[in-house]
Amino acid sequence: MRPKVMFFDTTLRDGEQSPGVSLNPREKLEIARQLAAMKVDVIEAGFPVASAGDFEAVSVIARELKGITVCALARTDRDDIETAAQALAGAENPRIHVFISTSPIHMKHMLRMTEEEVLELAVRSVRQARNHSADVEFSAQDATRSDPDFLVRLFTAVIEAGATVVNIPDTVGYTTPEEMAALVRKVRLETPGIDKAVISVHCHDDLGMAVANSLAAVAAGARQVEGTINGIGERAGNAALEEVVMALLTRRDHYGLDVTVQPRAIGGLSRIVSRLTGMPVQPNKAIVGRNAFSHESGIHQDGVLKERQTYEIMSPTDIGLGESTLVLGKHSGRHAFRQKVAELGYAELPEEVLARAFRAFKDLADRKREVSDDDVRALVEDAVYDGVPEAYSLKSFHVSAGNDGQPVATITLSGPEGEVTEAACGDGPIDAVYRAIDRATGHGYTLLEFSLNAVTSGKDALGEASVRISAGDRPFLGRGVSVDIIEASVKAYLNAINKAASAGEGGT
Ligand code: KIV
Ligand code: ZN
Repeated sequence: MRPKVMFFDTTLRDGEQSPGVSLNPREKLEIARQLAAMKVDVIEAGFPVASAGDFEAVSVIARELKGITVCALARTDRDDIETAAQALAGAENPRIHVFISTSPIHMKHMLRMTEEEVLELAVRSVRQARNHSADVEFSAQDATRSDPDFLVRLFTAVIEAGATVVNIPDTVGYTTPEEMAALVRKVRLETPGIDKAVISVHCHDDLGMAVANSLAAVAAGARQVEGTINGIGERAGNAALEEVVMALLTRRDHYGLDVTVQPRAIGGLSRIVSRLTGMPVQPNKAIVGRNAFSHESGIHQDGVLKERQTYEIMSPTDIGLGESTLVLGKHSGRHAFRQKVAELGYAELPEEVLARAFRAFKDLADRKREVSDDDVRALVEDAVYDGVPEAYSLKSFHVSAGNDGQPVATITLSGPEGEVTEAACGDGPIDAVYRAIDRATGHGYTLLEFSLNAVTSGKDALGEASVRISAGDRPFLGRGVSVDIIEASVKAYLNAINKAASAGEGGT
């Protein structure tokens, strides 16, 4: 049997630390469900002491997900560890993840502590965490700029105190594959008791080497890789888990290691994470970029048509990005729709999400002759996104616009005080309808970002609008899908407003 590499997903904790990203507990739960369906080994669900929202997200995920390890982050403070333990109370397999900085620069300027003080605190907190959980991970923050001999001493002590995983973070994305491999080897060979713990790595991408560093670590003996979907995270992000997974699977001949992650879930999960975080995936991104399996040059196209493997080392179908053979139209029923969704790699969606997506599909099939795979993907992602309590819902709207007069919009919303109709003029049709919405809700929101994309080609393509608004100094992301681009834009704006309202933030 080959040794196995475990995958620790931190999309919901380190990934959520990306600038401008804020996921609510419901959105985190949807992502966590998809991660569990993809069979990652550990989900780091949040940093419970950081906010009430993080605490709630960790508790809900811990209660709901079975058969998977759910992890919560804590500093070495007593209160952090108690709060993490409380948030994990409902978990089948809880893990507390304790971290402290170990590099001279962090210890001197941030902690103002000596090596001995850091070591003592690390040991005390691992012991405290072990009182609550049999599974405790210890991370030496900024490990790759720390003294390797100190790391070995520290890991020896925390393993003795009960740590089950020792993690080597390249917190600032500074190391190189050769250095990372040497550090892992040193820890593996020189730490007494290392056979009682798993060696893990956690790489950031500041120099674009996070995936290469993670793979070098694995080749040197690390057996847990931490990362995020689409590589999102602080600054330049974390190691993209889908890249590490596919490298280990595609080059099993080279690495000789086992992975139990199901790659078919990657495509759907990547899209859902991108939608919910509002972080687009660059078209040429490895594995999940729109162009990752497109062949433009004539020579390449000719080769692929003759034999796919001439220019493709992986199949898009293997990662849930292929086309399914089932054709959906107006007469397709719930069963066919469910099968299509599964074929597209979305696993274990809750019934209410499937029901919402199916209703939207029926609606679309009435307006469009053939519903494509990309349409279905957009509807499913919209349904995952939806479900925010609707303080305001759309009843009807009308917009009049042209090149010979000022656009005017009228909107009727159902709000907390009943139905309200308002009208407004604007610089364009969307400006007009957004102004009418502001009047109807009685609030003004700052529009930070707005984008509109066609989901598929063709004049009857679904339009997908995405907005980011600011309310009470917090960003809220909204998304809407419709064959009518003004309707998609209205839905996106209302979605963001409803999220702001449910977080207790009105506009100005
Ligand atoms: O990058 C880092 O050092 C971290 C730790 C908390 C593991 O995210
Ligand atoms: Zn990190």
